[in-house]
Amino acid sequence: MTAPETGLERPKLGEPYLLTPGPLTTSYAVKEAMLRDWGSWDEDFRAMTRELRTSLLSLLGDGSADFDCVPMQGSGSFSVEAMLASFIPRDGKALVLANGAYGMRSAQTLEYLGRAHVVLDKGDYLPPRGDEVAQILADDPDITHVVAIHCETSSGILNPVEEISEATYAAGRKLLIDSMSAFGAIELKVEDIRYEAMVSSANKCIEGVPGFGFIIARKSELEAAKGNSHSLSLDVHAQWAHMNKTGQWRFTPPTHVVAAFLVALRAHKDEGGVAGRGARYTRNRDVMVDGMRELGFEALLKDRWLSPIIVTFFCPDDAKFVFDRFYELMKDKGFIIYPGKLTVVDSFRVGCIGQMDEHVMRQVVAAAKETLDEMGVTSAAPPAIALQERAKLAA
Ligand SMILES: Cc1ncc(COP(=O)(O)O)c(C=O)c1O
Repeated sequence: MTAPETGLERPKLGEPYLLTPGPLTTSYAVKEAMLRDWGSWDEDFRAMTRELRTSLLSLLGDGSADFDCVPMQGSGSFSVEAMLASFIPRDGKALVLANGAYGMRSAQTLEYLGRAHVVLDKGDYLPPRGDEVAQILADDPDITHVVAIHCETSSGILNPVEEISEATYAAGRKLLIDSMSAFGAIELKVEDIRYEAMVSSANKCIEGVPGFGFIIARKSELEAAKGNSHSLSLDVHAQWAHMNKTGQWRFTPPTHVVAAFLVALRAHKDEGGVAGRGARYTRNRDVMVDGMRELGFEALLKDRWLSPIIVTFFCPDDAKFVFDRFYELMKDKGFIIYPGKLTVVDSFRVGCIGQMDEHVMRQVVAAAKETLDEMGVTSAAPPAIALQERAKLAA
C-alpha cells in the first residue's frame, strides 16, 4: 500500500483502511490505550465511566441537563433493543419508520419483544416524511411511540428527523431515535430536535473500537422505564440506577474499550466536536463522490439526501464488472469497501467515517480507477433500471 499524503497518520501496522460504517479505522492512540488493564471496581475506572457519560452528554447541547447517558455492553443492536424494551411500555405501540435494513431490524426486535407495532416500510431508501407520520398517527390513536433511524446506513440516506419529530410531538406521541451511525458527526441537539431517547455505539463517529453502545435519554423517561424491560442484562433503567448509585456497570464492563473510547472522545473534542468531525466527513464524502462521478459511477441518492457517513453507488452495467473481484482488487490496494444492500439493483457502498481525510479519499478514487482498468471495465455507468429506480426520489 502506498502512503497517502495525509494529515492523519495512516494505519501503523499497514492494515487496509476500513471504508465501512464501523468497525472503522481508528487512530493508533486509540488502539494503544488498550495496552493496560483496569479493575472494574476501582475508582480509576469509575472516573473513566463518569468522563465517558458526561462527555457524551455534552454533545447534546444546552438542553442536556434533562438527559442522562447510559452505556450498555454489546454491539449497537444490543443498545437499540435495550432502548425499545425499556422505553416502550408493554402495553405501548410503536410506529417504526423503515427505509432499509436497520429500520427493519427495529421492527424485528419489537416482534421478538412482543411489543405491538406497525411499520411504515418505504422500501430500500425512500425517506419517511413528516406528513406521512402525521397521517398514520392521526389514524391510529393507540400508537404511543415513533421509532426513527437517523442515518439509514444500509443506503446512506440521512432521514428527515426534524420533520418526523415535529409530526410526532404535534400528535402528542414520543420519539426514539437510532442515531447509531450519525451521532457525533451530525448534530442531534435537544434544543433543535425533540426526542425521548437515542442510541449510538463506540465504533461509529466517535471513532472508538467496538464493544459497547450507549443510550441517551430524558431523565423522566429513565425513571418511568422501571419494570418495562423483558431482559435483565438489557434493562436501561437498572443499568442507569446502578451506575448512578455505585459508579459501576452492572456486569463486566468492556474496560479496554472504554479506555480507548476516552482517547477517541478527547480527539473528537480537539477536532471541534460534532461540527468539526462532521466537516471532515463531509469533505471526505464530497471528494470521494466527485471523484467517483468523474470515473462514471453514479450514486443512488441525489445530493440533498446524501449523508456524510456512507454512500451507495450502483454497480456498473459493464459485463466485466464483478463486485467480488472489484472488492479484492481494492483490498489489495489498501481499501476495504462494503457490499450494497439494495434489493432492486446491484450496488456497493463506500464509507466516509473513521481516521481518514480527503487525501485518503483521493487515493480511494485513484484505486477505483486502477481497478476498473485492471478488470477491463470501460464504462462505470449503471444499467438503465438503476437510474429509473433513482428517479423515484425527487431531488
Ligand atoms: C443505523 C444502525 N442501527 C443499528 C446498527 C446495528 O449496530 P451493530 O451492528 O453494532 O449491532 C447499525 C450498524 O451499523 C446501524 O448503522
